[in-house]
Amino acid sequence: MKTRNKKFYITTPLYYVNAAPHIGHSYTQIATDAVSRFRRICGDEVFFMTGTDEHGEKIERAAIENGFKKGEEKRFTDSIIPNFKKLWKDLNIDYDFFIRTTDDYHKETVKFILDKIYKSGDIYKGEYDGWFCVPCEMFWSHTQAEDKVCPDCKRPLNSIKEANYFFKLSKYQDWLIDYIDKNPDFIMPDYRRNEVVSFLKGNKLNDLCISRSKKRLSWGIELPFDKEYVTYVWFDALTNYISGPGVLNNKKRFKKLWPAEFHMIGKDILRHHAVYWPIMLHAVGIEPPRTIFAHGWWTTKGEKMSKSKGNIIDPYYILGKYPVDSYRYFLLKEVSFGLDGSFSEEALIRRFNSDLANDLGNLLNRTLTMVEKYFASKVPACSKKNGPCQEAAAAMAGRIEESMDRLNFSETLSAIWAFINRSNKLIEVRAPWKLNKEGKQDELAQLIYELVEVLRIVTIAVYPFMPASAENMWGQLGLKDFAKINFNDIKKFGLVKSGTRINKGAPLFPRIKQ
Ligand code: ME8
Ligand code: MG
Repeated sequence: MKTRNKKFYITTPLYYVNAAPHIGHSYTQIATDAVSRFRRICGDEVFFMTGTDEHGEKIERAAIENGFKKGEEKRFTDSIIPNFKKLWKDLNIDYDFFIRTTDDYHKETVKFILDKIYKSGDIYKGEYDGWFCVPCEMFWSHTQAEDKVCPDCKRPLNSIKEANYFFKLSKYQDWLIDYIDKNPDFIMPDYRRNEVVSFLKGNKLNDLCISRSKKRLSWGIELPFDKEYVTYVWFDALTNYISGPGVLNNKKRFKKLWPAEFHMIGKDILRHHAVYWPIMLHAVGIEPPRTIFAHGWWTTKGEKMSKSKGNIIDPYYILGKYPVDSYRYFLLKEVSFGLDGSFSEEALIRRFNSDLANDLGNLLNRTLTMVEKYFASKVPACSKKNGPCQEAAAAMAGRIEESMDRLNFSETLSAIWAFINRSNKLIEVRAPWKLNKEGKQDELAQLIYELVEVLRIVTIAVYPFMPASAENMWGQLGLKDFAKINFNDIKKFGLVKSGTRINKGAPLFPRIKQ
């Protein structure tokens, strides 16, 4: 495994607050939460940061559409933040730090960075003549947008012709190509790295326009060297990854946390993160983050789910009908992290019934029923505590560690489910009801003990993905100190004490009727 017993700094994008979050945003949150929880039980000191992107024309427009006046944008964003925080809480997203781009320390940091780059000569004033897409908050040149619609979202563009400030991206193009070449894990998965590399090798980078004239937009952070302008929202937002840990106001924490292990993002914002951001950092003499991981999109009817396209599914619709852990499980199991996936309620129900109700739910239920029936609800004593499952558990642990390093959650879950199903099969083959009938008490006790151990191990393994269910399972197994569960205990066998009184509860995942 890559890093152990170390600090682990992981981030999500800062979401625009023009509307409530949808399934797409919850996906990045759930994935980041699963990695964070996994690292915590491996002993890492995790700093999981998320937050909101609150400046710019898109938010200013949304404020006005929602009945706020110019100058009242902050009141508008204040009114939206609780929606985000509530959803993260309801999804059991256990973040350590929430950053808002309207926070004072963040605004000060953006100004500090702008000033530093300006003084070093990498920001200059020039004439901007091109286009701007408000929903994407993107500048496009005439050649990029020949048909006057946004190359990304295909919506009409606003023409901009005015004096503006530019950041010398082009100066660092060769440095970046070389950096990516020398750091193969900088962009993951590798097919995303290849996209960025071929873009960089096939195009000359334009310098990045980093200002917006106050004549058009005042909702932003003012340029420290020119009061007539605010900074471009992306320059503002990207800086969060260093302002949050405290590059300006908490140097000790920053020094400990930087570079981030992972910036988790969707592929829609790969270029901003893999091109603009490392160059911004390089220009101020800060090393790039270790890995930018760009996952795929959830689509509906073949189109990216998006607030501005109006084809979103509200996470609360799903949460109103299904347990939170089935939603978390579905998103991380259904597609290999990195690729696109098409969201459907039918697919979620299928997964629920087969993987959760049938495989995991049954293993728990059958095992506890047998402890109840054959051993008066107490984990039996037996002459031999380690059976054939021990080796399988150790092999699973290795597969988990390896696939979690690559953030291949789907593979991790497959490894866990192979272990679960192997144990279900063991019950069929060993037929404990027969052992009982034939009076083979020690053999029966050994088998049941082993199955309880399997469940202890499975509970730890599924915890990063389904924390609430794991806590419930731990309780049903009669185990204590759930807060102290530890990944290494997956590799040990025989930890449950004989005589432990189990606490069989209602089935965890009752089948959903279709
Ligand atoms: O881009 N499928 O914010 P945003 C999967 N403020 N993930 C999706 C998704 C979908 N259909 N839709 C959104 C911004 N996401 C900027 C970011 S960062 C310094 C600034 C997720 O509200 C995914 O993580 O448009 C995507 O990258 C992010 O939400 C975009 O959120
Ligand atoms: Mg977006």
